[in-house]
Amino acid sequence: MSTAISPTAYNYKVVRQFAIMTVVWGILGMGLGVFIASQLVWPELNFGLPWTSFGRLRPLHTNLVIFAFGGCALFATSYYVVQRTCQTRLISDSLAAFTFWGWQAVIVGAIVTLPLGYTTTKEYAELEWPLAILLAIVWVTYGLVFFGTITKRKTKHIYVGNWFYGAFIVVTAMLHIVNHMSLPVSLFKSYSAYSGATDAMIQWWYGHNAVGFFLTTGFLGMMYYFVPKQAERPIYSYRLSIVHFWALITLYIWAGPHHLHYTALPDWAQSLGMAMSIILLAPSWGGMINGMMTLSGAWHKLRTDPILRFLVVSLAFYGMSTFEGPMMAIKTVNSLSHYTDWTIGHVHAGALGWVAMISIGAIYHMIPKLFGRAQMHSTALINTHFWLATIGTVLYIASMWVNGITQGLMWRAINDDGTLTYSFVEALQASHPGFIVRALGGAFFATGMLFMAYNVLRTVRASNPAEAEDAAKIAVVGAH
Ligand code: HEM
Ligand code: HEM
Repeated sequence: MSTAISPTAYNYKVVRQFAIMTVVWGILGMGLGVFIASQLVWPELNFGLPWTSFGRLRPLHTNLVIFAFGGCALFATSYYVVQRTCQTRLISDSLAAFTFWGWQAVIVGAIVTLPLGYTTTKEYAELEWPLAILLAIVWVTYGLVFFGTITKRKTKHIYVGNWFYGAFIVVTAMLHIVNHMSLPVSLFKSYSAYSGATDAMIQWWYGHNAVGFFLTTGFLGMMYYFVPKQAERPIYSYRLSIVHFWALITLYIWAGPHHLHYTALPDWAQSLGMAMSIILLAPSWGGMINGMMTLSGAWHKLRTDPILRFLVVSLAFYGMSTFEGPMMAIKTVNSLSHYTDWTIGHVHAGALGWVAMISIGAIYHMIPKLFGRAQMHSTALINTHFWLATIGTVLYIASMWVNGITQGLMWRAINDDGTLTYSFVEALQASHPGFIVRALGGAFFATGMLFMAYNVLRTVRASNPAEAEDAAKIAVVGAH
């Protein structure tokens, strides 16, 4: 073992860039979420303009929170985790820098084109072909950087977190490229290569696996690194993590048809999607239990460590949304929940409770290490953030459950003579209080992000990045 400074120190620069942008895009994406939630309460906020209408801002919200906020969190953590667990520097600094700037360019492209109304109309795949091609190039480069780094690892094993990140990268590339196959007719207009029910099936194979691989598998990679690290305990069961991995990726890919119940999709495909969704509960909970049980013997840390609280509560919401999802995939339940706010509640149980909470926990864990500080500027502020996020999520989900079930039951209520008991507007009026509570919950969550930004800013301003690089160098040398 040598004590000399190794030239193979980690590339923390790109991790820092993605980590900071996670916070920035989080504030913008969630701020926009609060705005569109308010539009549903006060329609005047559409301002009578096409660019500021709900229909155009909604996809901008989803693109910003999923790809900008969630994407940057995944880039930051995967680059951090792959370097530390492989004890080696990223294979190429310039390719890593390209992924950072390329990804930001795609996001800026979304901010410009979506309000202008340029869209493929496919949910979560709205970006028109020039941006979709740029995204594909950035993503393939990401794969080269990630897997290239794994090939030059100094460790024997590939840590399980990297398996999850790796599957997320490969499958996202496949989904994006296949679903985006289209014929461009002008710079901003293209037509899908598929038609009719086939188009719908491919779109929801994409859509569901965007959830399964982008919003789940990647974040499970995060979970497998940051939960044990923050709890300072080894993962509960390495064996379970391997079973979890193979079962999850084998099953997720079949469940897409549950988005197309009672449609022109062949009935057998709907039933297959339903069955696979129910089976999916098992690996989902296996993963959640593996994360939770990692805290055995360390539960007391939850009292004093709000970062750990973020990580553990995210697992609780993960467990909740992956219980709810299989239930909603049952056709008879879906006939009540589909088109209603119940779906929106389910989405945000996963999005706020799981995806955002685990990302926030991971960023709080990394920031001091990336900027050469012992800890975040203020633990009290992290604690305040934790409560704002938790209360915000609960308000959001609970109001959408009430709304969803109310809407579903009112829409299907029928009088003795076969006519509808309620008009659509009556169901909308009944939803109004829930919309207000949801906007309030969202405002809680977004305010928490502002506290985070302040805390990060103070930590960064007192930082010493050179020290962080040195610590990384010594860690690399020490591990030889
Ligand atoms: C402050 C936090 C947030 C607020 C207030 C908010 C609000 C909203 C609103 C009002 C909608 C439209 C609902 C409708 O059409 O009826 C929506 C949709 C959506 N949001 Fe959020 N959101 C927030 C955070 C997030 C985050 C962090 C994510 C993902 C990581 C996310 C993902 C989505 C998705 C995927 C949809 C589309 C759901 C669907 O089509 O079923 N949101 N959000
Ligand atoms: C075992 C796991 C899961 C299953 C089986 C599942 C199942 C479902 C079902 C049945 C729907 C309603 C489809 C409809 O009626 O249109 C749905 C919607 C959705 N779920 Fe899940 N879910 C799971 C986990 C998650 C997680 C963890 C997240 C987020 C991180 C999530 C995000 C979404 C989104 C974004 C939608 C709305 C899609 C849309 O219509 O735009 N799901 N899910």
